[in-house]
Amino acid sequence: LFDFVAGGADDEVTVTTNRTAFASLSLRPRMASEYMKPNLATSVVGQAISIPVLTAPCGFLRIVHPDGEAGVARAAAAEGSVSIVSAMAATSLEDVAAATPADARPWFQLYALGGIAGADQLVDRARSAGYRALVITVDTPVPGNRERDVRNAIPMPLSVNLSSAVRLGPSMLAHPRWLYRFIRDGMPTKLPNTLGLAIDGARITQEHATRLMVTDPPAWPAIERIRRRWGGPFLVKGVLTAEDARRCLDIGADGIVVSNHGGRQLDSVAATIDALPEVVDAVDGRADVLLDGGVERGTDVIKAVALGAKAVLIGRAHVWGLAVAGERGVSEVLRILRDELVRDLRLMGHPDITTIDRSAVQLRSDGPHRSNP
Ligand SMILES: Cc1cc2nc3c(=O)[nH]c(=O)nc-3n(C[C@H](O)[C@H](O)[C@H](O)COP(=O)(O)O)c2cc1C
Repeated sequence: LFDFVAGGADDEVTVTTNRTAFASLSLRPRMASEYMKPNLATSVVGQAISIPVLTAPCGFLRIVHPDGEAGVARAAAAEGSVSIVSAMAATSLEDVAAATPADARPWFQLYALGGIAGADQLVDRARSAGYRALVITVDTPVPGNRERDVRNAIPMPLSVNLSSAVRLGPSMLAHPRWLYRFIRDGMPTKLPNTLGLAIDGARITQEHATRLMVTDPPAWPAIERIRRRWGGPFLVKGVLTAEDARRCLDIGADGIVVSNHGGRQLDSVAATIDALPEVVDAVDGRADVLLDGGVERGTDVIKAVALGAKAVLIGRAHVWGLAVAGERGVSEVLRILRDELVRDLRLMGHPDITTIDRSAVQLRSDGPHRSNP
């Protein structure tokens, strides 16, 4: 499970560069500023958040800890953040929504489970359950080549059968507390959002639904139709180029998430902090731009916002919190980031996250962050 969460595609080049690109970007603090109480509150697609950090959609979280997706959604709501719930959640989208207060429902991340017909059904269910925005992930036409999972022979979707139990048994026994909780939680390895999906009125199996995700994925015209069917705030996740950013604008997206799936899909694509300026320039204020990939520190958030992101998503960082202490662990991760951001903004001499701009980072004349091309 550690490898499933931590790992990426191929040689994990992009997993690494997501972090090193943040590290190679320097901040430009201003000294001796007048005291102002640091402000972290902002808005994304018209919704207020008290911290510019959302939790990224991550599948199968109940395997990590029984609090799972519902625990993440509750923690995010309690911290004034937003949880984006994966279609691949191990808890049904209705149950996750019901676990949160009515005025702080999460956002739903759509995969075309069951193909385009299935996507339509998931969109309708997400609307009925009260989700406040829809995020469609577009960088997953096929699963990435995650060799740690291949080496560990982790079947996707995850499942436990006799042979996997024998293979993974020693490792499971070495983690008795995890194993106890996992068994008590009913070994949640299924994808409950696939239950009830139907094609031409006939129910389909989980296996059929996940196969259709690969053979019947929505392209731009279908994505535009899905946006209209949804009718609320709509974001596209997995954009790395100006060309695709313009397509998002063409179909009327309210938000764009610059993401390389945490380096888990196509390896050797740009680090997201390096791809961000190109997307921000193409969007030119016509949609909100968000970023994920390698965000672990308050200073990472400041760098992303300085280069034009309205907010960031954290993937693995919140999953580690969940693994350690369930819902409480996710709250703690968000609190740590909040504390870091407050301290870092004071140190930057710029106490308002909403007015940070490119002058907050050292732009390299040879780098993707150059300010005046
Ligand atoms: C365990 C795990 C599962 C994920 N599952 C999904 C998913 O179901 N849908 C999706 O759009 N992205 C998924 N992602 C990608 C995240 O949403 C996000 O883009 C990525 O984790 C950000 O990088 P970071 O982990 O470095 O913060 C997953 C990531 C991880 C680590």
